Amino acid sequence: MRIILGLLILLSFKLNAQDIIPVPVEMRQGALPKDKFIIDKNAVIFISTSQALPSAQFLSDYIFKNYNLRLPIITELTKTGSRQSINLVIESALYTNPDKYFVSVLSNTIKAGSPSAQGIFYAVQTIIQLLPPQPENTEKLAIPTIEIIDYPRFAYRGMHLDVSRHFFDISFIKKYIDYLAFHKLNYFHWHLTDDHGWRIEIKKHPKLTEISSWRNGTIIGLYPGTGNDGIRYGGYYTQNEVKEVIKYAAERYITVVPEIEMPGHNMAVLAAYPELGTTPAIPTQVAQTWGIFNKFNNVLQPTEKTFSFLEDVLTEVMELFPSPYIHIGGDECSKVWWKQSPFAQKLIKEKGLKDENGLQSYFIHRMEKFVNSKGKTIIGWDEILDGGLAPNAIVMSWRGEKGGVAAAKQHHKVIMTPENSMYFNHTQFMKDDSLTAAKFLPLKTVYNYEPIPAELTTKEAEYIWGGQGNLWSEYIANPAKAEYMLFPRLDALSEVLWSPKNKRNYVDFRRRLKTQFKRYDLLKINYSKRYLTDQ
Ligand code: ACM
Repeated sequence: MRIILGLLILLSFKLNAQDIIPVPVEMRQGALPKDKFIIDKNAVIFISTSQALPSAQFLSDYIFKNYNLRLPIITELTKTGSRQSINLVIESALYTNPDKYFVSVLSNTIKAGSPSAQGIFYAVQTIIQLLPPQPENTEKLAIPTIEIIDYPRFAYRGMHLDVSRHFFDISFIKKYIDYLAFHKLNYFHWHLTDDHGWRIEIKKHPKLTEISSWRNGTIIGLYPGTGNDGIRYGGYYTQNEVKEVIKYAAERYITVVPEIEMPGHNMAVLAAYPELGTTPAIPTQVAQTWGIFNKFNNVLQPTEKTFSFLEDVLTEVMELFPSPYIHIGGDECSKVWWKQSPFAQKLIKEKGLKDENGLQSYFIHRMEKFVNSKGKTIIGWDEILDGGLAPNAIVMSWRGEKGGVAAAKQHHKVIMTPENSMYFNHTQFMKDDSLTAAKFLPLKTVYNYEPIPAELTTKEAEYIWGGQGNLWSEYIANPAKAEYMLFPRLDALSEVLWSPKNKRNYVDFRRRLKTQFKRYDLLKINYSKRYLTDQ
């Protein structure tokens, strides 16, 4: 009996210590389960260089916030004495891959090393997952001995959030960034503008926040809905708030990529500046109902006035965001408006363009030139392929994988985000009590997504930069709902983008999720509780 009990205890240690998401490249359990590293009030965090300080601070704050133990940070190893220490070492010669790290848990030390500050941050995220999610005794946190060597599969690991359909304040945006960091993602795609509201202060064009940020009502229920609530709704981020978010993300090694939509998805702009549209005499309202309708969603007219307006906006955006990448949308621009516009038709002729797709391509080329002139690169949805891709553009493939394949074949970088695998606003259960978009995206489909399309050659596959999950917020009106839609599909995404393909195993992932859910309980995250019972 005692042997069985001992075996069970050993097994449970093994299980907890290995329940890391995303699953690491290599992991070896320590020889003896009784060997444990204990974090108590005497433990310290040592850093080899000030570059490791943000990660050390992050770890110390995490342990304090969740376990009420404050670990001091020291810079001289000799000062540890007999104290338990977590050593964060940055050493450029360690590996050639800057994102690679190791974590080695011994009974008296945790050693973590990487050539870079972001690699050490990833090590810290792993150490956090080694902490007991439900400690019996928070004065002594036991971590079983283990050795881990790890690095990401893809360089671009992204998650998107639409703040136009519903607005989320910066306290939630920071939480969201923490969630990405916890999953070792490194890009936050901030969808700041759309038909339903403009969300960023632009000092040169104040009507964008006075008028474009507000709608006079919102459709009730699933489109076509059961009416309109008639309640004024909106909000925006000041430039100071944007700076705060960028700094917060940078401290977590996350790049914030802003999206400014063009030439479609611009009804909010046209409500304030009708002269930039194709029918200036007909007033436009900030949209109140979901969806894109050819006859309803007017688009920007490609006039000099429009280009100059967009250049003003992008100038402020590029000054604010250090990101080398600026997303300029490009999706779902209805061509009916340009078809019936004498100005647009004249421009097509003048420029020798083939048709309205050619005009869209002209629009994007022109904006790319401007963005490139500031030393930055554009990202666009896969419609930017229509009529010819701008020379340096990165393509986000959302209408399936076709766009991504075409762009990779043209030797353009690609981010895979096909809606049938990566749209987390789609319902995760066949029947969901809460209101969600009427498309089905179960956890398993996300988990089994393979970002490299089979039809690409090895050389072409190198253009697949990575992938991204998207969270469109038509039916996500508050943070609790965003968390419900995000977790645990974010866990699946992180494994798709970080872990080696041959390490992915859905059954094992579901087993590890049980421990992850305990961590979410600790962090008070509103994950979908049905996964606790449903298979
Ligand atoms: C998109 O879902 N319109 C990119």
